[in-house]
Amino acid sequence: MDTEAGPGSLPHVPGAVRPVPEAEPGLVERWRSQGGELVELLTQVRERLGGIAAFRLGPAPTVLVTDPQAVQHVLARHPDRYVKRSHRARLLIGDGVLAATGTAWKRQRRLLQSQFTGTGMRRYEQRITEAARTTAARWSGYARTGQPLDVEREMRRFALDTIWRSLTGHPLDDGTERELATVAAVTAALPTLPADVTDAQDAVASDLARIDAVARHAIKAARSGSAGPDGPGLLHLLVDAATERPEYTDRLIRDELVTLLVAGHETTATTLTWLYLLLDRYPAGREEALAAGGAGSAQRRQAIQALVHETLRLYPSAWILPRHATEDDTLAGYTVEAGTDILVCPYLTHRDPQLWPDPEHFDPRRFITPDGRPTHPGAYFPFGIGPRACLGLQFALRESTVLLEHLLPAHTLAFDSTPTKTSYGMTVRPDGPTLATVAQPHT
Ligand code: HEM
Repeated sequence: MDTEAGPGSLPHVPGAVRPVPEAEPGLVERWRSQGGELVELLTQVRERLGGIAAFRLGPAPTVLVTDPQAVQHVLARHPDRYVKRSHRARLLIGDGVLAATGTAWKRQRRLLQSQFTGTGMRRYEQRITEAARTTAARWSGYARTGQPLDVEREMRRFALDTIWRSLTGHPLDDGTERELATVAAVTAALPTLPADVTDAQDAVASDLARIDAVARHAIKAARSGSAGPDGPGLLHLLVDAATERPEYTDRLIRDELVTLLVAGHETTATTLTWLYLLLDRYPAGREEALAAGGAGSAQRRQAIQALVHETLRLYPSAWILPRHATEDDTLAGYTVEAGTDILVCPYLTHRDPQLWPDPEHFDPRRFITPDGRPTHPGAYFPFGIGPRACLGLQFALRESTVLLEHLLPAHTLAFDSTPTKTSYGMTVRPDGPTLATVAQPHT
C-alpha cells in the first residue's frame, strides 16, 4: 500500500475507498463546443477535482493522474496493472521497443539498455561532440553572413545528426536528412490520421516507403561490415544480434532503427528549441549558467543541466503518458476499474503550485539549490519513471549539455518573433516560426 504523502500528494485515508471524482458532463460539453485543446480540458478537470480525476469523452471514463504518489503507483509500482496499449505510432515504429509489450518488449529493452548506460554511453561521447561542433560551426557561419536561422530546424538537425551517428557511425548527410524529414512529417500527422488502419496506412504510404528505403540502405551497409568513420553503431549491434536471435528479422531491425530515430530526435530537438525560447524571455538564465564556472568545469555543466531540467519541467516533450488498467485497483484510496483509460500528465504535475512555487516562472536554480525542488519521483518525471522510463535519458541529457557548452558561450540569438501558441500533439511544441539571427561569436 502507498502510504507516503508529500507536498501536492493526496491525503491517504486508510480504509476509505471511493470512486474517482468525475467532472460534470457540462464541463466537457462546454470545452467541446469551444473547440479547445485537450490540455485546456485536463487543466480544468485537475483544478476542479484534484490529482486523480475522471472525465468522459465517450461512454467510459478516462482518469487523469497528476498527483505524485498516484503517478508513482501507476508508472513505477504497478506497471503490470497499468499497461501501454498498442498505439497509433505502431504505423511508423511497428514492433520497436517503444510500442512492444510483454516478453518481446523485455527482450528488446534488455538488448538496447546496455548501449544507453555507463560504458555503453562512452561510445557516443565523440559522436555527440562532433555533432555539436558541426552545429556550432554552422552558427558561426550564420553569424558572419547575418543570414537568419530557424532554431527548430537547427535543433532537429543536431538531434538527428547525433542519433544517426550513434546508429550508423556516419555523420548525417544532406540527402539522408531530407529523406528523414518524412519521419517528422509522419509523426506530426499521426494524431490526425483516419481511424481505420488501412486508410491511415494509405494516407502516409509514400512517406513510409521513403523511410523504409533509408532503413534498408543503412541495414545493408551495417550488414556488409561498413562501420563508418566513427566506428560501428547501434545498428551493428542489432544486425549482429540477428545472427543468434531469429526474432531480429530485417523488419524488427527496421522497427528498432525507426523507433530510435523517432524517440531520439523530436523530443531532444523540441526541448532545445523551448530552451532557447525561454532564454529569450529570461536572458539571465544564460548569464548565470556561464558565470557558474569556467569552460569544461563541473559547475558550468551542472548549471547547464539545470537549464535543461527547468525547460523539461515547463515543457516535458512527452506531455501525456497514456496507460490502460488491466485489472481493478485501488489508487491512492480511489477505485479504478479494469478497462479504464488513464492519462498520466507530467505537464500538469510540473506546473502544480503546491509542488512548484510560482510554477510558470523559469528558474533553473530550482535544480541547483538544495531543497529547490520536490524530490518525490512522481513530482518531476519528464523521462517517465519505472520500467518503461526513457531508454535515452542519459543520451538526451548528454547531447543537450554538450551542445549548449558549445553554443552558449559563443553565440547569442535574437528572435525575429517568437511563437505565441503551443501545439499539444504527440509532443508539446512551439507553434509558429522560430527564426532568429545569431550574434557574432565572441573572440
Ligand atoms: C529530452 C529528450 C527526451 C525526453 C523528454 C524523452 C521522454 C521519454 C518518456 C517520457 C518516455 C516514456 C514514455 C512512457 O512511459 O509512456 C520515453 C521512452 C523512450 N525513450 Fe525517450 N525521451 C527523450 C529522448 C530520448 C532519446 C535521445 C532516445 C534514444 C536515443 C530515447 C529513447 C526512448 C525509448 C526507446 C523509449 C521507450 C522505452 C520503453 O518503452 O521501454 N528518448 N522517453
